[in-house]
Amino acid sequence: MDFSTLCVHGSGKRYDTTGSISVPIFQSATFAHPGVGQSTGFDYTRVQNPTREYLESTIAALEGGVDAIAFSSGMAALMALMELFSPGERLIVSDDLYGGTHRLFRSISSKNGLKYDFVDTSNPGAVEAAIAPETRAVFVESPTNPMMQVTDLAEIARICKANGLLLVVDNTFLTPYFQRPLVLGADIVLHSGTKYLGGHNDTLAGFLVAADAGLAEKLRFVAKTIGACLSPFDSFLLLRGIKTLAVRLERQEDSAKKIASWLKGHKNVKKVYYPGLPDHPGHDILKRQATGFGAMISFAVDSPTRARAVLENVKIIKYAESLGGVESLITYPMLQTHADIPAEEREKKGINGCLLRLSVGIESPCDLIEDLRQALESN
Ligand SMILES: Cc1ncc(COP(=O)(O)O)c(C=O)c1O
Repeated sequence: MDFSTLCVHGSGKRYDTTGSISVPIFQSATFAHPGVGQSTGFDYTRVQNPTREYLESTIAALEGGVDAIAFSSGMAALMALMELFSPGERLIVSDDLYGGTHRLFRSISSKNGLKYDFVDTSNPGAVEAAIAPETRAVFVESPTNPMMQVTDLAEIARICKANGLLLVVDNTFLTPYFQRPLVLGADIVLHSGTKYLGGHNDTLAGFLVAADAGLAEKLRFVAKTIGACLSPFDSFLLLRGIKTLAVRLERQEDSAKKIASWLKGHKNVKKVYYPGLPDHPGHDILKRQATGFGAMISFAVDSPTRARAVLENVKIIKYAESLGGVESLITYPMLQTHADIPAEEREKKGINGCLLRLSVGIESPCDLIEDLRQALESN
């Protein structure tokens, strides 16, 4: 079945016989047992719920995994993932990451005894060099948030396999519509489902997708035990969002290409980070390992004053955190998503007062360009 058909119809794993086109919301915390020691297959919603199960089986099919687990947010999924590791074990992680992921690694998991080696994972040699006897996994965001660094996933998967390490990929920016890390050799995919999968800036969600049954079993055990599960209603909203994933991403990427080229030619823009531009260092890798470049653009303007003026003058585009929805959003990573990263590290990566991050929505690209033009020329 083609990806876009799977998005609309889902996995087909249904439990009701009413014929309802839309998957019902089973708004029940618990389920009656037919007899002692018997189960309908559903006992308690923290463990499983029919609406969530339909969503999970759909995500697993889209990513090409054996199982997917839905969490109440991307961060909840990440927190559950860290439970696979024990105190003293190390993870090699991308040195450019969503700020919340960085904060969880630095402030929570480190306190629990896990150790992190921050490495530019777009350089496979650097990943190989960072492997220590205690290393258990490599965690990659690709493209990274916000600097859009691209990692060669098949090459990192090869290094991981040769060294007995798990490869985890945060696939939030590209989604399985453009990139399927499990097919490229990764073991686990993580998503902030809040973003493109939900797609409407109205629901928080997170996912872990496992490539094999052993990993899936371990992750399910953690998920049912910690209880950060996605509610039936939010599962329904995610299913509804996924129906239009393919058409939204086609439109968003098409607009992003136009906007990135336009930004590149604007006198007040100093640098554009968009992997769809042929001179982006990750362009050729993405051409090989993905079917598209996504709709996230970071760009540096000529001064922090200009950056603030853009944020205060955009009209259609909203100055707000988050990304991936139908509404275009612009973010100031230094003050918002990446505020907790030590200033020196931020500066080194280029996350400074001039950097803005744009999530391109499904509005008319002409309206978006006009909005950016007036905001870039407003002072
Ligand atoms: C790449 C990436 N991963 C994970 C997360 C965390 O997801 P959530 O906000 O759903 O907890 C985010 C949030 O912005 C993100 O951008």
